[in-house]
Amino acid sequence: MLISSRHSGFDHPIPSDITPRSVYEDRRALLRLAAGSAVGVAVSGWAGGQSGSGAGAAVARPGKLDLLAGATSGVPGGVTMEKLTSYQDATSYNNFYEFGTDKADPARNAHTLKTAPWTVNIEGLVKKPGAYALEDLLKLSAQEERIYRMRCVEGWSMVIPWVGYSLAALIKKVEPLASAKYVEFVTLADKATMPFVGSRVLDWPYTEGLRMDEAMHPLTLLTFGMYGEVLPNQNGAPVRIVVPWKYGFKSAKSIVKIRFTDKEPGTAWNKAARNEYGFYSNVNPDVDHPRWSQATERRIGEGGLFAKKRKTLLFNGYEAQVGQLYTGMDLKKFF
Ligand code: MTE
Repeated sequence: MLISSRHSGFDHPIPSDITPRSVYEDRRALLRLAAGSAVGVAVSGWAGGQSGSGAGAAVARPGKLDLLAGATSGVPGGVTMEKLTSYQDATSYNNFYEFGTDKADPARNAHTLKTAPWTVNIEGLVKKPGAYALEDLLKLSAQEERIYRMRCVEGWSMVIPWVGYSLAALIKKVEPLASAKYVEFVTLADKATMPFVGSRVLDWPYTEGLRMDEAMHPLTLLTFGMYGEVLPNQNGAPVRIVVPWKYGFKSAKSIVKIRFTDKEPGTAWNKAARNEYGFYSNVNPDVDHPRWSQATERRIGEGGLFAKKRKTLLFNGYEAQVGQLYTGMDLKKFF
């Protein structure tokens, strides 16, 4: 990433998004098995295998997420039947520029991130601003596991079981004013623990933003964990958002401030390259990046560079759920 209308309503899940409970439970059992073997791998050394990352060292696992309900997602579109990306790949092939620009850097460097105590400041056009401790955020709403496709703007994708709850639960709790039209996410920028903060690669802190209706959409997940465990630092511990129908860079990691505003907030990649990364950044195979096509993607873990590419889907396959947010909008203009 370095610089060098259709209307269906999200109340109606598309059939492929509905997972029969028995199938889902089998998958959870498989997941636990996979988790077990990854621990084994940590002892014996990682052999590479199908990974798309090429990162050699097995990652340390932060442990169970205490409040994980483990419940199947009640949100339509919250579960896909696609094969999960391995924990190893999802935690060793990352973008987290505060810790370096190479995909292997975050797993290597993010151990310095101090995730406790952690506070998220709620500010701006809101009735209940304040400093919210992570512990309180964790308890605010029942958490569930959501299996989302994640499509990075660079052309690769993963399928990850995230744990959290709809950001809407927090937004409702803090009561934004009617004048609030956007939500800005500000992430940690701590030179002492993040070696690349201060480098000129981005304008720090890394910020992101959503329109209020996007932030309120039930698929937008305030995320505390993945694979049933606490978020590893390199994936944005202790709290991040995941917005599955947008390119991965919209999913801000290690959030310290959520600000309600009446103006479209600046975003990290838009500030870095205005003509390449727009505010909306909805996954769209018909709107190419100025320097490459977005029509296909490479699923990480699927046979490396020579694997057959997949066709990228409009809104990353979540069109039935989110298409109505953009009715009448020119998606080429608002890219
Ligand atoms: N958040 C912060 N604070 N800093 C970053 O560099 N990178 C983004 C996003 N969130 C980034 C960030 C990009 S480009 C992607 S693709 C996703 O995080 C990657 O998330 P993952 O490593 O958990 O897959």
